[in-house]
Amino acid sequence: MKKINYQIIKKAATLLHAGELVAFPTETVYGLGADASNTQAIERVFIAKARPFMHPLIVHLAAMEQLELWATDIPAAAYMLGAAFWPGPLTIILKKHHLVDPLITAGQDLVALRIPDHPITLALLQEFGRGIVGPSANRFCRISPTTAAAVREELGSKVAYIIPGGNCAVGIESTIVDLSDATPVILRPGMITAEKLSLLLQQPVAPPHSNPSTTRSAGMHKVHYAPETPVLLVDYSELSQCLAQQKTACAVLSVHQLPDLAPHILAVPMPHNPQKFAQLLYRTLRRLDKKNFSAIILVAPPQTQEWAAITDRIKKASNQFIAPETK
Ligand code: TXA
Ligand code: MG
Repeated sequence: MKKINYQIIKKAATLLHAGELVAFPTETVYGLGADASNTQAIERVFIAKARPFMHPLIVHLAAMEQLELWATDIPAAAYMLGAAFWPGPLTIILKKHHLVDPLITAGQDLVALRIPDHPITLALLQEFGRGIVGPSANRFCRISPTTAAAVREELGSKVAYIIPGGNCAVGIESTIVDLSDATPVILRPGMITAEKLSLLLQQPVAPPHSNPSTTRSAGMHKVHYAPETPVLLVDYSELSQCLAQQKTACAVLSVHQLPDLAPHILAVPMPHNPQKFAQLLYRTLRRLDKKNFSAIILVAPPQTQEWAAITDRIKKASNQFIAPETK
């Protein structure tokens, strides 16, 4: 493993203590960090992202012992999941401690907590000693950044410092599980599937949207994680028909073998392995978004649990431009 540069950690911690914004790498996506105990700094996060205050933030922690500082009535399930999956791509929603700033939770009585798995950010969290709020470091409704360069593109001078941490290994945002009721509910699917959580807890874990009465949301926007280029989601069976309609330059991303394509259509083969696919998804969309294609066509991946989070993100990226074939 690469040695950590403690100059970087010190610099980032000093800026955070001063109420500045620091973008940090995680295994999922880069986060836009601020001191979770400083109301003005938290406010800056919303402003930099142009994010409405009604969308609550995740608090990143260094270790499980810090849970009690942020949450109350913590169920055994939280400790079990934390022990199994932290540091890692899982966010747990719990009843909030009364001292948690209401700006973080959008006035709700629940708080989202996560220990991320990235050596630099874990070192920063330890050095800083307090929680760090961290939404994805993108402008509201855009694709999350998975490289430091992508954070610069998204937020540029709005952040005091961007910690360089390479390409994110997971590539899409963490699984969010709500443990505030008797039955755990997934609010946002991620690469840790409902099946894995359920197996560990030995109890059912409800998939997203299965409880229509819930008002809690996580990335539930109609258009979310979207590039500027229209994204079309099509089934493989409808691909030929969709391609025949494309008269201008476009790109096709697929795990399937593609037919011979017209010269104005670029084939972008994607990995068959869901972990590798997720790792490349946002980076690929971001790269293609710069090429002036009239559309990015995404062929629907397999409909299994392992692909559920990827399918969720692809649907969100394509929501505003539904291909006629997929209506
Ligand atoms: O992988 C991740 O989770 C990344 C990295 C940086 O940790 N963070 C991230 O944060 O994706 P953000 O803010 O882009 O997405 C967090 C989602 C939002 O959709 C928000 O609505 C939801 O979590 N959320 C946060 N606190 C919540 C709460 N108390 N109740 C319900 N949903 C919550
Ligand atoms: Mg986000």
